Amino acid sequence: MSTSKGQKSENHPGDRHVFVCQNQSCLRHNSQEVLNTFKAETENLANVHIEASGCLGQCSTGPTVRVMPDEIWYCRVQPNNVSLIVRQHLQGNQPVDDMLHPRIHPRFY
Ligand code: FES
Repeated sequence: MSTSKGQKSENHPGDRHVFVCQNQSCLRHNSQEVLNTFKAETENLANVHIEASGCLGQCSTGPTVRVMPDEIWYCRVQPNNVSLIVRQHLQGNQPVDDMLHPRIHPRFY
C-alpha cells in the first residue's frame, strides 16, 4: 500500500511507538510542541511511530512521553530534549537516564 508524503507505512514487529500526552496538564507545559518536534525529528525513521495520547496518569510531571514496547517513561519533556531522546534512545537503543520518570524508573543509590 502506498502512503502519501509524511505518512509512515504500516506497523512491523519491533517498531517503536512513542506516546506523547496531549491532555490538559501536559498541554499547559508545551506537549503539543513536544509532539510536533518528535514527528519532525523522526520523519525519516520508518520503525518509529509518534502518537498523540490521552492522559498517561503522570500529570504533575508532564509533559509525559512513553516509549513502547520498551516501557520507558520520560517526564518533563520539552521540545529541546527531543533530539537527544531520538538520537540516543530511538536510534541508539540507550534510554536517556537523566530524563527517566523517577516514579516509574526508581534509582537506588
Ligand atoms: S495530562 Fe499528561 S499525564 Fe496526565
